[in-house]
Amino acid sequence: MLFCTLRGVKVKGFVINGQNPLSGEIHIQGSKNSVLPVLAATVLAKGESVIHNCPRITDVDSAVKILKLLGCKVKREGRTLTINSDCINSYKIPDRLMREMRSSVMFLGAILGRTGKAVLSTPGGCEIGLRPIDLHISALKQMGVCFDSGAGRLEFQVQKTLKGAKISLAFPSVGATENILLAACTAKGTTTIINAAREPEIADLADFLNKCGARIKRAGESVITVEGVNELHAAEHRVIPDRIVAASYLIAAAVAKGNICIKDIIPEHLCSVAPVLKATGCELTAGEKEIKLLAPQRLNSIRLLRTAPYPGFPTDLQAPVTAALCVADGTSVVVENIFESRYRYACELLRFGAVIHVKGRKAVIEGAKSLNAACVHATDLRGGFAMITAALAANGKSCIYNTEHIDRGYESPELYLNELGADIKRIQSNG
Ligand code: EPZ
Repeated sequence: MLFCTLRGVKVKGFVINGQNPLSGEIHIQGSKNSVLPVLAATVLAKGESVIHNCPRITDVDSAVKILKLLGCKVKREGRTLTINSDCINSYKIPDRLMREMRSSVMFLGAILGRTGKAVLSTPGGCEIGLRPIDLHISALKQMGVCFDSGAGRLEFQVQKTLKGAKISLAFPSVGATENILLAACTAKGTTTIINAAREPEIADLADFLNKCGARIKRAGESVITVEGVNELHAAEHRVIPDRIVAASYLIAAAVAKGNICIKDIIPEHLCSVAPVLKATGCELTAGEKEIKLLAPQRLNSIRLLRTAPYPGFPTDLQAPVTAALCVADGTSVVVENIFESRYRYACELLRFGAVIHVKGRKAVIEGAKSLNAACVHATDLRGGFAMITAALAANGKSCIYNTEHIDRGYESPELYLNELGADIKRIQSNG
């Protein structure tokens, strides 16, 4: 199957020859969902912060653009970013950057803490749901922030000073927890977050902020307290490994008769993923900073898999694991409890010959003995990795378009997977 270029259109994609067994070892990139809030936090910390283990992904490029627009000086050397935020001279994030990366909303708390004002455009929905920020807004109002909106703009203004508050989240929102932490560091008084998100990225953000002089206690638990301080200073930090990327490669190996070792990870971050992979028949062995996976000839189906806030099964792995279950022996059921429309990729899986029935938040997957090669589009970041997973399992040569979605969060996936024995070529036609 040739990779057909769309005349006159710049096309980015992968061509994947399926069914190569994967073996060997790879080292995992730094966490996208940790480095983004940590980069936002450097806005709060006067001086020059040094952040190591930053993945080479386009979301980090977008975050660097925002830092520079706010007046920070940013230097990049390999996977280390140096950010000097002494000369912050803006509090606005333009619409084009909010559209480029909707998680730019996590700069809100830091910009408010540093300047007292923030103007963003409505983050808007994305490929996986509406992505409202009502929890962020109601929490910041409790901390003394005035909010106004109109014509697609969100305007925030601190009245007098940011003040500590007791905030109970209706849902353990990762982004809302992060924005509250960022705003609370230099607020007057103590902030308590009840029903806080417990994802490891929250604890990593708190770890960096405490190195900058913040007083955050019990981050990673569902009740977090922050004692406000006058100001924060720059610090050096190494971002934790990306647990979602690590698990994505384990899932890829699971469908490709893999025998692999993933290094530089924190095994307990995969506490809810390992049991699921074992249930599919994979043998997993955890070391101090690594996980080994030996895949079965054919995966077992999973009677019922539900996504949930950490430490539950991550919503970010719902798409890759659903793709893997398309070749499992039997029928599986997956329920997506976090985002309301996170199955857009399923229609692309059908092109591989997968048998999936999606109704609302529930997908029923009837495992097939094999999949056929197909030409598909990446619908979003994790849906894009689901396409890679299916293509690795499929007979023949598949192509995946719109791989810019995948590049947002996976650092050169073709290099990592080819190192394990896959046959993936990155194609870019200039139209
Ligand atoms: C973070 O998104 C991650 N992104 C997501 O990863 C991840 O899927 C998500 O947390 C859940 O773990 C980053 O960290 C950059 P939420 P976030 O606020 O903060 C609703 C990926 O693939 N909600 O925990 O946006 C919301 O609509 C990305 O790497 C409100 O209703 O997630 C969703 O249904 C995708 N009101 C649920 O809560 C709010 O004010 C979870 O959202 C905020 C959220």
